[in-house]
Amino acid sequence: MKLQIDSDRLRSEIDALALISEAEPPVVTRIVFTPADMRARAWFIDRCRAAGLTVRQDAVGNTFARWQGSDAAAPAVGTGSHLDAIPNAGKYDGVVGVLGGLEAIRALQRAGFHPKNSIELLMFTSEEPTRFGIGCLGSRLLSGTLSAAVAGKLADRNAESLDEVRRKAGLSGGLEDVQLPSGYYKAFIELHIEQGPVLERERVPLGIVAKITAPASARVSIEGAGGHAGGVLMPDRRDAMCAAAELILAIENAARTSGSTDTVATVGMCEVFPGAVNSIPSQVRISVDVRDTDLARREKVMRAIETAAEQISDRRKVSIQIELLNADAPAECAPDVMDALSASCRKHGQKFLPMISRAYHDSLFMARIVPVGMLFIPCRNGYSHRPDEYASLEDITRGALILAETLAVLSA
Ligand code: GLV
Ligand code: MN
Ligand code: MN
Repeated sequence: MKLQIDSDRLRSEIDALALISEAEPPVVTRIVFTPADMRARAWFIDRCRAAGLTVRQDAVGNTFARWQGSDAAAPAVGTGSHLDAIPNAGKYDGVVGVLGGLEAIRALQRAGFHPKNSIELLMFTSEEPTRFGIGCLGSRLLSGTLSAAVAGKLADRNAESLDEVRRKAGLSGGLEDVQLPSGYYKAFIELHIEQGPVLERERVPLGIVAKITAPASARVSIEGAGGHAGGVLMPDRRDAMCAAAELILAIENAARTSGSTDTVATVGMCEVFPGAVNSIPSQVRISVDVRDTDLARREKVMRAIETAAEQISDRRKVSIQIELLNADAPAECAPDVMDALSASCRKHGQKFLPMISRAYHDSLFMARIVPVGMLFIPCRNGYSHRPDEYASLEDITRGALILAETLAVLSA
């Protein structure tokens, strides 16, 4: 079988999709169920249909594009990723796995391959947490990790629930029907940019993920007392912003002193009320994102953050509420799928590295119901979640080729 990736078409599709955005190029912002996301979905479905795939969407908008195999009853081999993008993002995160997966399927079709197991391309809904506070909504529901009742009530900043928003997007049916029946997939593979510097630094073009780190996130609300910036003297203040500043440094310190550089913590959002130059902040909300390869160590860091919050709250006479949004276990990739990926790399004379995924992916949740593999390609300077995120066409093409080869082996 002669597998050939059409890299020109892949590039033009990646570029075309990047223009479906809420922001001016080169910035990509595509928040779930906004007009940009809806246009991207329609555009993607058209391309899948043009490739002869049968498309269906579930009640939360996870989109499945199936190439029917000769054994219709056999479990499918899945691949895919997400198309939503955080504010001020680039054009490769998620997209490489979806459009690379589509091109891998087209390459197999051109090569005259006939799968026994169906091959299914999956575009997950809301891998990014921007709108509803937690990430991987589609794969959490598919894997039964998140109940339909809880998911439906998740609300965005305008207090619109996921259930309302997805219905407005034309998605009907019950969220409880999103969960996949057991044995639906034989294997699932996600192609993704690394979002870190290792492959580029080591000059190795491919990474085979062995483990995906464990993420947790929380929303913290701090309430103090507002007042006039001139009139209230310093001994009388209960400034919520100063308490937040201390807590943010305590969060950084908890990660830095965990005993391992595998622990990372980020405060990426801060809302200040009332937000006036001459007004003492009375309320502050911050986000906390903590990740680690080791679950026990991450939990220890979360407890250290809670303790710091209690101390700051006592000392500064402010109230601090921590609302845990998610606290997930790490995932191991399946040895069989990793072996299939490494055999494909060897067959095509490609070097690869075993990797840890420090970003989370829908594969974190798919791994709970199906043997999962992840294939990484380098991205320049390890940059991701920023507009100058970049992966070379050569690396993307190589990733799609190894993906196609592995899909063929697993579906033959
Ligand atoms: C996914 O985008 C992550 O934050 O790891
Ligand atoms: Mn992302
Ligand atoms: Mn991603």
